[in-house]
Amino acid sequence: MHLQTFSTPEEASEAVANLIISRINAFGPTQHHKFVLGLPTGGTPVRVYENLAERCEAGEISFEHVISVNLDEYVGLPPTHEQSYHHFMEEHFDIPPSQTHILPGVPIHPIQIITGTDPSAASEWESDLKAHQVSCAAYEALITYLGGINLLFMGIGANGHIGFNEPGSSFESRTRVVALNEGTREANARFFEDKSRVPTHALSMGLGTILDAQEIVVLALGSNKAEAIRRAVEDGINHMTPASVLQQHERVTFVADSSAASGLKEDTKEHLKLQSQSQSHSMHLARHGAAKSLITNSTNPPIDAAIDTCTSTTGDHGQRTNARPIVTLLAKGEVLLDHSEEGDEGDSLPGL
Ligand code: PGA
Repeated sequence: MHLQTFSTPEEASEAVANLIISRINAFGPTQHHKFVLGLPTGGTPVRVYENLAERCEAGEISFEHVISVNLDEYVGLPPTHEQSYHHFMEEHFDIPPSQTHILPGVPIHPIQIITGTDPSAASEWESDLKAHQVSCAAYEALITYLGGINLLFMGIGANGHIGFNEPGSSFESRTRVVALNEGTREANARFFEDKSRVPTHALSMGLGTILDAQEIVVLALGSNKAEAIRRAVEDGINHMTPASVLQQHERVTFVADSSAASGLKEDTKEHLKLQSQSQSHSMHLARHGAAKSLITNSTNPPIDAAIDTCTSTTGDHGQRTNARPIVTLLAKGEVLLDHSEEGDEGDSLPGL
């Protein structure tokens, strides 16, 4: 684990932008070897996105061959809703929609997606929950076929959540529907007219999904994050502080401004700073890169190939004509029909 602390939120945000830029540039993404970047929403990442936009403008970084996958989305908010994370990303991260993947907040009924039949004829499949579960399973499949997440950038909740994995979340959890706890809804009420408007549920990458990322950077800004950072970094791994599970990850950096780091013991800061200095990430990569060979050594399939394989449980790449529209739907939250093979039963989405 690495820890970097900075006097101001601006400096901490710049450090995260630096890390993102250096990882993408070192990777050298191309058309057929894309960099997969996991991204957060909320108040924390705003300065990082501003910094990245400026440096993109200055030619320091290009996102042409970067694919983004977002951590989470509120259940029930369409992409046009001002507080949906689709909308947030459109406002803050200017990357072509074809390279952006965000879980759909509005349910897409699997019967519609998979068979193209009239959903009213299959009432048992019509529940929103089931539709969201299908989206979540396909999101997992999408990440797998993209070759995994190269770098996952996240914030942290005051209650220690990462993504929307609230206290008590399973460390093995995958992308799924989650109930937001009251503290989270209160914290996020600042973005809505009042707390009653904050959705009660969300779709979120699971802790298991997060831990599969090749590298993770967590940004914490402000004194309201101090206790969460202290528990995540100094206490033992505990379900009640979901971010503490990151202690198990071999390549994680916490970046904090001085307020967010204020709960940490001086010893902790000193120790983790020394560790960061003596164990640079490049040395770490050289020693441990092979352990992640499945992800790092696989050339990402071109995005079309990734999409085409996404719904196949048998590995028969390209043989299912319905595969591509399904993932397009999931990525964009749009409803498209009539793209499936006739008579194709809904057995194609993995994880169901
Ligand atoms: P915030 O949320 O950036 O709005 O503080 C962070 C989080 O909940 O992960």
